Amino acid sequence: MRRFLPALCGTALALAMAPGLALGSTAGSSVGDVETGRLLAFTCAGCHGIPELRNAYPNFRVPKIAGQNETYLINALHAYRNGDRQHPTMVAQASSLSEQDIADLAAYFASRRPQQNRRP
Ligand code: HEC
Repeated sequence: MRRFLPALCGTALALAMAPGLALGSTAGSSVGDVETGRLLAFTCAGCHGIPELRNAYPNFRVPKIAGQNETYLINALHAYRNGDRQHPTMVAQASSLSEQDIADLAAYFASRRPQQNRRP
């Protein structure tokens, strides 16, 4: 399923694609949109705290995904969705995501600066 975004998303799209191009991306077929991903990521932020939105669960240990490689994020979310990865929380999260959601979320998180390592 290939989807081309309209010109109005051009700037965000260019930003979203930059890391992929630099890495010779083999990511899935949907083109991720950083701005849409930012909105979708609202539900992820409580666990995967990102700098502007403090982690709501300080004692809940979750992997840091801000600044992670875009293709890695896409692959991880596919793996939760199709059952290759079996963590119940993330399987539940990923099961409601469409291909486009996954692409947008991956573009957004990949565009973030990695978090500072305050909690080892
Ligand atoms: C209720 C808490 C919670 C929420 C909400 C949540 N996650 Fe997670 N996430 C986790 C935990 C815990 C893990 C580690 C799971 C494991 O060990 O496989 C994880 C793992 C991941 C990973 C794999 C990271 C890695 O290094 O391999 C990705 C990618 C991810 N989550 C993306 C998301 C996205 C995108 C959302 C929002 C749609 C989201 N998560 C929402 C708790 C959460």
